[in-house]
Amino acid sequence: MGMMAWFTGRESLALGMRPETRREAIVASLLNMAWIIEARDPYTGGHLWRVSRYAALLGERAGMAAEQVAQLILGAFVHDLGKVGVPDAILRKREPLNEAEFALIRVHPELGARMLAGHPYAHLLHDVVLLHHETPDGQGYPRGLSGASIPAAARIVGLCDAFDAMTTPRPYRGAMSLDQALTAIEAQLGRQFDDFLGRHLIALAREGALDGILGHSDEGLRLQACARCGPTLVVRREHHAGEHIHCPACGERHKLVTQGEGRSATLRAEPTGAFGSPTDLLPSPDQALIRRLVQDTAGLAVQTGYGMPGAA
Ligand SMILES: [Fe+2]
Repeated sequence: MGMMAWFTGRESLALGMRPETRREAIVASLLNMAWIIEARDPYTGGHLWRVSRYAALLGERAGMAAEQVAQLILGAFVHDLGKVGVPDAILRKREPLNEAEFALIRVHPELGARMLAGHPYAHLLHDVVLLHHETPDGQGYPRGLSGASIPAAARIVGLCDAFDAMTTPRPYRGAMSLDQALTAIEAQLGRQFDDFLGRHLIALAREGALDGILGHSDEGLRLQACARCGPTLVVRREHHAGEHIHCPACGERHKLVTQGEGRSATLRAEPTGAFGSPTDLLPSPDQALIRRLVQDTAGLAVQTGYGMPGAA
């Protein structure tokens, strides 16, 4: 029996793929991994999409090439992969963290980098995953790097991640207004936030370039508010009027109704007073969004062919 007999079924399919298809399959697998983190926290609906959109706009504004912007988008999706190792009791804690708990949070960049280390595209994402909590003043973690020694991609994703956290409500606090968040960033330029990038982010926000991202979970799709939990309800493109969606935090069932007419019609979630079953509440990756992201990024982000000589 020759070697080829081992390569049956799925393996032979993967090995027989055209290089472009194989790149797309690997990028899709990365984005599916990223959704594990999104599924973990009921209050972060749309967080990864928003961070990736902010990062892409900021990267473009900062003069990055299309390939670097595509890498930023993927980096934004996987940056918090290591949070899979942080206990829920800490991730979801409503009170301020003590020193021991914060020490556990601080391992997530290192863990994320280790989890990705064997991945064929780890080299594209390593900096963002390991260094997105470094700050220009050297007070960040895990390395305490400062200024220009922090790679640009990590600085961009770190800033956009912080901006989204500020402008998104949490169970224990409301969201800052856009103005408050911009003021907070301005006050920390050169310290917590990169001066050059921070100024560009503020300019983008003042121009209104972030309006379609803030409070949204996808292009044209606003997060909807659960009366109890705030804006936690994610409507997807494939949803139709009459369907139900559930608040991932409290589980209340909401019915989607059409609001407005014609092309400007949108879906609004109305509370029903009923609650979803455990199965109703299971999160699932947004495969349609993942397919679009793969199409937008796979060809650009990955410059070297997987498995080709010279590929890092
Ligand atoms: Fe993080």
